[in-house]
This record gives sequence, C-alpha cells and structure tokens, in this order.
Amino acid sequence: MQDVKGRWPGLADEVLAILRCLACRGGLGQQIDGLVCAACGTRYPAVNGVVRFADEHNYADSFGFQWKLYARTQLDDATSHRSENAFRQRTGFRPEDQAGKLVLDVGCGMGRFAEVATRWRAHVVGIDLMASEVAAQNLSDRNAAIFQADVFQLPFATASFDFIYSLGVLHHTPDCEQAVKVLPKLLKPGGRIAVWLYSSYNPWYRMSDLYRKFTRRMPPQVLHKLCYAVIPLYAVHQVLRKIPLLGKTASGALAWLVPMSFNTDATWRVLDTFDWYAPWHQSKHTYEEVFRWFESCGLEDLRVIEPPIAVQGRRPLGREPLPASETSGVQQCAE
Ligand SMILES: C[S@@+](CC[C@H](N)C(=O)[O-])C[C@H]1O[C@@H](n2cnc3c(N)ncnc32)[C@H](O)[C@@H]1O
Repeated sequence: MQDVKGRWPGLADEVLAILRCLACRGGLGQQIDGLVCAACGTRYPAVNGVVRFADEHNYADSFGFQWKLYARTQLDDATSHRSENAFRQRTGFRPEDQAGKLVLDVGCGMGRFAEVATRWRAHVVGIDLMASEVAAQNLSDRNAAIFQADVFQLPFATASFDFIYSLGVLHHTPDCEQAVKVLPKLLKPGGRIAVWLYSSYNPWYRMSDLYRKFTRRMPPQVLHKLCYAVIPLYAVHQVLRKIPLLGKTASGALAWLVPMSFNTDATWRVLDTFDWYAPWHQSKHTYEEVFRWFESCGLEDLRVIEPPIAVQGRRPLGREPLPASETSGVQQCAE
C-alpha cells in the first residue's frame, strides 16, 4: 500500500510472512524505509512508496510511459465495469471464491484487475516491472500491496497464494514459457492460476507484426502521437460499414492493412493501439502450448477460458513437490 504522499506505510503481517530475500531466500523484516533480510542483510528500499525488488528494465519502457499517461483510464467506476467483465472473462474466477483469499497479480500495470479483486474482497499482492507507484497510488485505499519486481525473480515463498493471475503480461517478457512456469510453485495446494496470452490463431496480427518491427523502436512519445490517427480512422470504418454491398469488405481490408484497436471509447482506443505497437516483446501462443506448460508443472483441472488464449489450472491438493521441467537450461516449476 502507499499513502497519499507517496510514503511507504509498511506491510500487513500476512504479506510480510511470505516475502523472501532474492539473494538467500531468508525472511524479510520491515524498516521505516523498506525491507531488510534478517539472514544476509540485503536491503530492498521503498522508493516513492513502493518496495523495489527489481530495477526497471529498458525492454518494458513503453509500459512505464503508458501507465504514467493513462494512470486511471481503465479503472472501473460507477458508470463502467469493463475491467471487471474482462477479469471474469479472462480468468474464469468468481467473486465468491476470492473473498478473504491471498491473490497474486503478476504484471498488475496500473492496477485495474487488482482493483476488481479487492472489490471481490481478496487481499491482493501486485507486482510489476514498471511504474509500480501508479498501481500503488490507485490502490492506496485497498487491501493490496504493490511491489516492483520481475516475474523471473519473484520475492515470495513457495505455496503462498490461493489464486494467481497474469493477464496480458507474460507474452511481453523475453521468454513466455519460462515466465508461465515460474508461477505454479507459488500456489498453495488446491490453489488456482489463470493466464491470458495473445493468440497465435489470429491472422489479423500478421500486418501489425510487420509494422511492429519499426514501431517498437520508436520513442514512445512519437509513437503515441501516431496512435492518435486511429481516432479519425475509426470514423472512416463506421462510414464504410454503412455502405451497402462493398462497405464491410472495404472496412475489413482497411483493418487488415492498418490493424488498430476498435474500442468504442476514443481514449482506450489510443491506449490499446499504443499498447499493441509499442512493447519490445510480444509473442503469440496456442492453447496446446499453454496446456503443455501447465501440465509439465503438475497442474490439473485445466480449463479453456474465452477469449483466446486464456487457461486456468489448479495445483493438486497433495503436498508433493511439483515436477521440475527443463527449458533453456533453467529449472522451473519445482520448489
Ligand atoms: C499490457 S500490460 C498489462 C497490465 C495489466 N495486467 C492489465 O491488463 O492492465 C503488461 C505489463 O507487464 C509488465 N511486465 C513486462 N515484463 C515484466 C516482467 N518481467 N515482470 C513483471 N512485469 C512485467 C509491464 O510493465 C506491463 O505493466
């Protein structure tokens, strides 16, 4: 949590108990300005109200830019439940299951889904590599703790969380498979995980894959200005679609040539289009891949959730260690 002045107010006992030192896996103690490892003395400072377990990475710079600019755009309010609807659709989780549970949001961004989970009365721990102070500020009055951390080096004890979700994040890392596989061991026995990744079934992504070779190299400020072009282009689509016979085909051809967000809200449209073209890493995946990764980590009761590629799985109830799976020489899954 973060107070209104950006000071670090400290952590709830439930969260402190599951935190581990990245250097020696020892337990951490609270100090006025951050956390310190009782065993090896490594310090994790709180900067602008957020404890830092990782430095911000260049490859995710565009997210830092976008969350500072669109800090509250996607937060639900009295008139919109779009993030709550997306959270239900992409995780398959229900409010009654989350109440009173400890839930990890991997790549929480500005905190829109963590905000929903706290409304469902979960105690949320959110981590992100970039602009974590934005989420901390947005969730300052909630039952939530936000950390700046890297999914590949998470500061948590194994078997800590009742639920884990990661929505639209792991395909933006250098190795999506490895990122997925580091998470199941953090689940308590019987705990559930849901991930949502970009789909490799979608042929509409081909042109944008081509454009992204250039757009991801652009300074975020420049690309962001370019994304404003989708506002008039949306109106062009609306007009084309009203033309009998060939109108819809023309609109489809234009969408193929210039893939963009068709969000009905103009601000979301610019944000979504920037979010598509700016990130350095953006891999696409199939249900088969994610099922294989989950199965290799010993998860069971795997479920296909819509829209693609959303998959939910459960850690078996027994306390047996999860299987180790070897990819690129990195041992994953196992505790
Ligand atoms: C498209 S945003 C999604 C944010 C949020 N889940 C949502 O849907 O609003 C992807 C997020 O992943 C974060 N991210 C990328 N690589 C990461 C890593 N290695 N560890 C933690 N977060 C990472 C980015 O900083 C960014 O906030």
